[in-house]
Amino acid sequence: MTSPMNILSHRKQRAFRPEKLSVPRNFYVPDAIKVSAADKNKRSLILEIGAGKGKHALSFADQNPNQHLIAIERTRNKFEAFKKLAMQQKLNNLTPIHADALAWIVHAVAPNSVAKIYILYPNPEQHNPNQQWLNMPFFEFLLSRLQEGGEIILATNIEAYMNNAEQEAKETWCLPISRHLVPMHSQRTHFEIKYLARQEVCWQINMYKPEGYRTRFDTWQMEEIKEPSK
Ligand SMILES: C[S@@+](CC[C@H](N)C(=O)[O-])C[C@H]1O[C@@H](n2cnc3c(N)ncnc32)[C@H](O)[C@@H]1O
Repeated sequence: MTSPMNILSHRKQRAFRPEKLSVPRNFYVPDAIKVSAADKNKRSLILEIGAGKGKHALSFADQNPNQHLIAIERTRNKFEAFKKLAMQQKLNNLTPIHADALAWIVHAVAPNSVAKIYILYPNPEQHNPNQQWLNMPFFEFLLSRLQEGGEIILATNIEAYMNNAEQEAKETWCLPISRHLVPMHSQRTHFEIKYLARQEVCWQINMYKPEGYRTRFDTWQMEEIKEPSK
């Protein structure tokens, strides 16, 4: 008999439990998500996790009017600074969200709906490596939200974090990847500017979701994600 593990595209044994995560405070499903669920020809959906004060999010949205970026930040003071700038710039393709990304994504994002996910300079979690993004069972859920052919982009200045991410991407998640150095002149985020100004090396890994990639959450969806009535 075929066990469910045999048909998965990855090797992570421990499964994430999305049903355990409660609805975030002040939760709503942004129109960009409802529209994208109803009409696949609309702007592609992009996620950013841990957007900080939104430097990357604001310039990405400005430079990519045909894509809609949802940028999530859980620290209140950073989020408030981000939201203020977003309101000043009036970009209609950017939605700043104040929430923990795990709970928010579980409740708001449909399977196979996101074209790209940015995780730029995540907290290093050196004392708690289980909390590094690629070590978490949640990463399987994140992959289920990504479209086939979609991409996850992770940058860090910590070599051990990058080495672990590369190993997990290849061996546990079985994803094709590319790894490269972030150019010294890059200025995407406040942390990137700070690290490169100190002459630190920053790395980026791009992970691609192949066609036919299977997770345990490919049809798993919260009730809230409804298509708008026609
Ligand atoms: C080191 S900072 C980097 C911020 C920004 N990406 C940059 O490069 O300037 C990491 C950010 O991720 C946020 N963060 C960490 N875990 C998060 C989570 N589960 N959900 C939302 N934000 C998170 C933190 O609050 C923090 O602002």
